[in-house]
Amino acid sequence: MTLEEARTALSAVFPQGMPKLAGVTGWPLTYTRSPILHNYWCARYGIDGLYLRLPLSPGYFERGVRALQALGFAGLNVTIPHKEAAFALVDRHGQSALRAGAVNTMVFQADGKITGECTDGSGYIDSLCEAGVALPRKTLVLGAGGASRAVCAALLDAGCTLALANRTRSRADAIVTALGGGDVIAWEDWPAYLAQADLLVNTTSLGMKGEDEYDWSPVLAKADARLVVSDIVYMPLETPLLAAARARGLQGIDGLGMLIHQARPGFAAWFGLCPEADSALRDRLVETLD
Ligand SMILES: NC(=O)c1ccc[n+]([C@@H]2O[C@H](COP(=O)([O-])OP(=O)(O)OC[C@H]3O[C@@H](n4cnc5c(N)ncnc54)[C@H](OP(=O)(O)O)[C@@H]3O)[C@@H](O)[C@H]2O)c1
Repeated sequence: MTLEEARTALSAVFPQGMPKLAGVTGWPLTYTRSPILHNYWCARYGIDGLYLRLPLSPGYFERGVRALQALGFAGLNVTIPHKEAAFALVDRHGQSALRAGAVNTMVFQADGKITGECTDGSGYIDSLCEAGVALPRKTLVLGAGGASRAVCAALLDAGCTLALANRTRSRADAIVTALGGGDVIAWEDWPAYLAQADLLVNTTSLGMKGEDEYDWSPVLAKADARLVVSDIVYMPLETPLLAAARARGLQGIDGLGMLIHQARPGFAAWFGLCPEADSALRDRLVETLD
């Protein structure tokens, strides 16, 4: 099928006129809540838009992105394992992408170029603001996987101090070097360090359904009463870390706010309106987490 034939076939699916199209790609992309988010906002704001789940295997990523661009999509969200490949693919990198070393939001421009941003960091900071957490803070971040660098960059850029601990130390070293800020502490040492922090951020996959559990309670028992505990894991919503924090009387912030807020800039770029993170949307997402 030629591109022209594909475009004709697509317009036949939408005889009243083509909606604005966007979507999320990743692989295998078994669980993604992004379509719920974006299609909720399209309905809420009366936008003729459609946001699709678009799994692309690693060998087909670039060709798939080019095909969607040629078909008239406005852009894409990108998730595991394509964020670095997206960074390599885009023509223009926003500051957030350069800081994160990854792209999670691609916008297809009228001149055929692709711009890339990484909104995970700003989404994380917005979730703290929404929870009433004032920055800057003395921050201890656990984990140096794919999500950590964007979060660390955003915390540093918000003026926070950063101590980073990861089971595999070399990955934490790499983030601190890339960002030009923060200190790495040994994984065994973070519990002792906690007394110096007023924000603890978990970016490890500890606490995810099916993952090994960690006994957080004894560590949090020694924490200052003003410590804020944030977990970017959102499945389950109430992670063992957050449960331990609340049992200790500490403020806990779950990962759903980050998920919602990281989606807003992409929606604004593709559909032309900056959407609100309202409570009805959060409720709808919570229903999908059980
Ligand atoms: N709320 C949101 O919007 C949002 C966005 C992105 C990600 N997330 C969540 O964040 C979590 C991490 O995602 P990711 O993409 O960064 O994952 P990832 O790249 O696989 O990184 C996993 C991290 O967890 C650490 N880890 C795994 N098992 C551990 C254990 N038993 N003990 C200590 N550390 C352990 C890893 O340490 P090593 O380096 O030593 O392996 C690594 O730092 C996931 O639950 C994901 O769903 C949430």
